[in-house]
Amino acid sequence: MARLAFGGDYNPEQWPESVWQEDVRLMREAGVTMVSVGIFSWALLEPAPGSYDFGWLDRVVDLLHDNGIGVDLGTPTVAPPKWFYDRHPDALPVTEDGTRLAFGSRGAICHSNQAYRDASSRITEQLARRYGTHPAVRMWHVHNEYGVPVSACYCESCAAHFRRWLAAAYESVEDVNHAWGTAFWGQRYGSFAEIDPPRLTPTVGNPAQKLDYRRFADATLRENFVRERDILHRLAPGIPVTTNFMTALSQCDSLDYWAWGREVDLVTNDHYLITDGRRTHVNLAMAADLTRSVAGGAPWLLLEHSTSGVNWQARNPAKAPGQMARNSLGHVARGSEGALFFQWRQSRRGAEKFHSAMLPHAGTDSRVWREVCELGAAVRELAPVAQTRTVADAAVLWDWHAWWAQSLEWRPSEDHDARERADSFYEALYDHHLTVDFAHPEADLSAYPLVVVPALYLATEATARNLRAYVENGGTLVVSYFSGIVDEHDAVHPGACPGAFRDVLGLTVEEFSPLLAGESVRISGPEGAELTADVWSEFVVPRGAETVWTYEDGLTAGRPAVTRHSFGRGTAWYVSTRLSAAGLGPVLAAASADAGIDPRPGLPRDVEVVTRTGATGTFVFAINHTPDEVKVPARGVELLTGERAPAGVAVPGGAVRVVRLDEAP
Ligand code: GAL
Repeated sequence: MARLAFGGDYNPEQWPESVWQEDVRLMREAGVTMVSVGIFSWALLEPAPGSYDFGWLDRVVDLLHDNGIGVDLGTPTVAPPKWFYDRHPDALPVTEDGTRLAFGSRGAICHSNQAYRDASSRITEQLARRYGTHPAVRMWHVHNEYGVPVSACYCESCAAHFRRWLAAAYESVEDVNHAWGTAFWGQRYGSFAEIDPPRLTPTVGNPAQKLDYRRFADATLRENFVRERDILHRLAPGIPVTTNFMTALSQCDSLDYWAWGREVDLVTNDHYLITDGRRTHVNLAMAADLTRSVAGGAPWLLLEHSTSGVNWQARNPAKAPGQMARNSLGHVARGSEGALFFQWRQSRRGAEKFHSAMLPHAGTDSRVWREVCELGAAVRELAPVAQTRTVADAAVLWDWHAWWAQSLEWRPSEDHDARERADSFYEALYDHHLTVDFAHPEADLSAYPLVVVPALYLATEATARNLRAYVENGGTLVVSYFSGIVDEHDAVHPGACPGAFRDVLGLTVEEFSPLLAGESVRISGPEGAELTADVWSEFVVPRGAETVWTYEDGLTAGRPAVTRHSFGRGTAWYVSTRLSAAGLGPVLAAASADAGIDPRPGLPRDVEVVTRTGATGTFVFAINHTPDEVKVPARGVELLTGERAPAGVAVPGGAVRVVRLDEAP
């Protein structure tokens, strides 16, 4: 892509053809370069089995092409037609408790179902043959957001598929018995044929079985993506194939995006602001950093976000003036090659008619439309940042398998939430103006001076070796409590916890001591500093580590709360209780000092400063989420205003500025 992309989902089938001319005229006015088309159109494209109607789509694609607008063409396989389900009712998914879901929404799919696989291959082949050489088609958009609304099915076809998956993953059923610990509660299996999906049980089911089922369900969805991708590669070579991820939405935790990132030609992501009272731009930054990391640092593309409010939360506030641009360009700062929305024209009918769009019900005489046009112009000015890469200061370890394992039942405290820890550590780093990459726990970490582990309950032997080597070779590691506890089968590592990290942290934990709801403990640190913590405490026994913060009250009073261990040429910190993002500040500041990182001083925490660099130059994005003007020390030419900023750039309250530096820092 020589320029950045701008546009959104376009659903012309919801409108009479007379509206399409106005659509493309307004798209041009707004600076739209690409739209996603046909994502939910199966029932219109194949109105009866084997009978196709491509006429309307031909006209849409030609019209867009004639107006210089590229097409991200959907395979509509997330929404099979009614006739399909009438012929194959067993393609509807079954929940854990045996309920078969009904037609009438979207995404009601059993991904093991052979009839679904065959029918979705056929429509994909038809589209690939018909549009694979059309000059408008820039990208294939397979399916839609795999994993939502249904991430796993528990039907008989899935049971058979699960048994095949187990037989490939394990040498014998005895290996399964061992890995799952079926000696516990008499769950032993005599053959693979006896094993079922983890359906609803009277009390807690086997945790290792549940963990494997999540792996199986993720792999099954990926099989279906790969099947469609391979058809597209074969019949329409040269066009990149993607599927839209939702990397950091806690509602979509069912896919291991590290694995998915390796399968797509271009990583794309959807992101929506979750209005849960927290600072939404911090979660946005996290999603963008995670998406870039899943893409291996390479450019990626924001395929959906919203111009203003969504319609699927309990309360859906409108975005404030300027917030849309801060959101869109926040993604671009962190590596997106543009900004696309759900959706182009706000629907009049159906479930999403109150979801904002680029062209709202209010029409062009509206704030949203004016801001959309301004953003389109800004995106055009940012063409020079295309293909540059975001620069990170530190890494945060992230593993979906560990998150799945941590989320299982009967842990020491249901208040310990892996995702909350990741959010809070991320927020603390954000507040120090540190840009982070996320990394898989077994990835090469040697490029990072600082590596943070917010919640890694499950850690393999390979992870243990990786972190040990990282610190031995001079790295600085920060590990939060209840990490390194179990192996890949949810079995506790032998000996005292945290088995995977005892040596590198220089300590053992004799006993966990979770706190009651509403209970807190005080901890004291260097120079009389005090902090309050909650949710968790534990009996830490230093075995080489020094105590930096100490519990002042509660059962663990007098014991170490935060420790520091010199190990090889590096340092490993351990935080044994739950500190808020603000509370983590002093601990991360001390660890950053060990790592030789100098956090950007003198800026309010809600001023985001992120750098992209590459062949076309080094670009500093300054995003001001505060109401007041700030001065950011970046000297060069500001791309959005065209002004020179010889002594740093002034960023008005709520604004975004992008400076191409005169010289690399
Ligand atoms: C996305 C989905 C879109 C639309 C949007 C609304 O998750 O891909 O089709 O439903 O949410 O926010």
